[in-house]
Amino acid sequence: MVSSREEVRSDLPSILGPLPGPRARAVIERDREFVSPSYTRPYPLVVEKGERAVVEDVDGNRFLDFNAGIAVVATGHCHPRVVEAIQRQAARLIHMSGTDFYYEELAALAQKLSDLAPGDSARRVSFGNSGAEAIEGAIKLARYATGRDKLIAFFGGFHGRTMGALALTASKAVQLRGFSPLIPGVVHAPYPYCYRCPFGKEPEHCAVECVGYIENTLLKTIAPPEETAAIVVEPIQGEGGYIVPPRKFFDELARVARQNGILLIFDEVQSGMGRTGRMWAAEHFDAVPDIMTLAKGIASGLPLGATVARADLMTWPPGAHASTFGGNPVSCAAALVTIALLEEELLNHAARMGAYLMERLREWPRRFAMVGDVRGLGLMIGVELVRDQETRQKAPELRDQVLRQAFERGLLVLGAGENTIRLSPPLIVSRDQCDFAMETLEECIAAAGGSACQS
Ligand SMILES: Cc1ncc(COP(=O)(O)O)c(C=O)c1O
Repeated sequence: MVSSREEVRSDLPSILGPLPGPRARAVIERDREFVSPSYTRPYPLVVEKGERAVVEDVDGNRFLDFNAGIAVVATGHCHPRVVEAIQRQAARLIHMSGTDFYYEELAALAQKLSDLAPGDSARRVSFGNSGAEAIEGAIKLARYATGRDKLIAFFGGFHGRTMGALALTASKAVQLRGFSPLIPGVVHAPYPYCYRCPFGKEPEHCAVECVGYIENTLLKTIAPPEETAAIVVEPIQGEGGYIVPPRKFFDELARVARQNGILLIFDEVQSGMGRTGRMWAAEHFDAVPDIMTLAKGIASGLPLGATVARADLMTWPPGAHASTFGGNPVSCAAALVTIALLEEELLNHAARMGAYLMERLREWPRRFAMVGDVRGLGLMIGVELVRDQETRQKAPELRDQVLRQAFERGLLVLGAGENTIRLSPPLIVSRDQCDFAMETLEECIAAAGGSACQS
């Protein structure tokens, strides 16, 4: 199977034969024997190299990456300026441990993130190596700063897999099964998943019952305000299905938090760093968290996590929280150039490409009976597949079939939630690449039995 575009377009996919090819099969065999079976691999992609939005596998097949390494390579694969910054920094200083010594890159990145954080308050930053670590830092800081122990998180939320982050996570049973006891004191509230309102409301009749549940049930029973340190929320639920809450949810959440002295922690690990066409998803809702967690897109693929907090909260003493590798100079250098690229052009570009994709996607529920809902901001877009638009019965097996067929046609997309296709391309994705992705997904949906709508 050879794409007709192959000869002339290195920015588009080219599949040379059945997948996986022979070299890929050899790697997969070795991986199956020695690597933890807990990793989820939706299709057999064995990557050799990447450039911008395209990755090539070990057999020379080219794919369009609409995952961006799970929303990580914001600037695309191996952006020349990121590569140059990494090489320059690696030749000068790879590690010194910011826990014990000073170096300029750490201070510069902390200052930049403080300047960029939503709201006017002064901020301070603590660095780790991943999203989960950023969350652990946020949990510890919220408890330390308030002297309270309880935490409120949301069903469908994903915050990572370390014990604290996992206690907040309520996304899939397999992520939790067999690992208890987790940290105590965590309770969950329904998330404003308006397509499947947990309170059975239509958006126009919603009185923000999700926050009402926190205020009238949780705070009055198992999480009294004087014991509740923080509410932890993804401003757009990522792994849970790319779900965008209405603005009034954030207004109400802020009111309840403020009135009860509870901190608001926004987990922007997936939604931050320009993914939504603004630096932070919070900006779309004029929301201002007390603490924000970052990772994924922050350093274009190098490991880095950050807990950004109001300076008047981050007053813990030396030794209270730190990490040997957290904020290493090479990751910081990659982050500084990533942020420069976002500010120079990629925020605007992501907003433009997101709008371009959405224009076409908005028609899908009318065109395809199995597309129930399309939602998103910028380049963080979810397409929810259903058996029936009327009953909204979920169609996870059709979604998985679409992911697999897209892979075979050279398009890499992943799922989110049980039955949603997630679109999270690198922010440098081009119009032609968006067109290719849309055409391919339309073909795959049709092939998966997505009959056209009657009307
Ligand atoms: C919103 C959110 N928070 C936290 C995490 C955990 O990040 P990591 O895998 O880097 O620990 C993720 C990962 O998908 C995430 O999407």
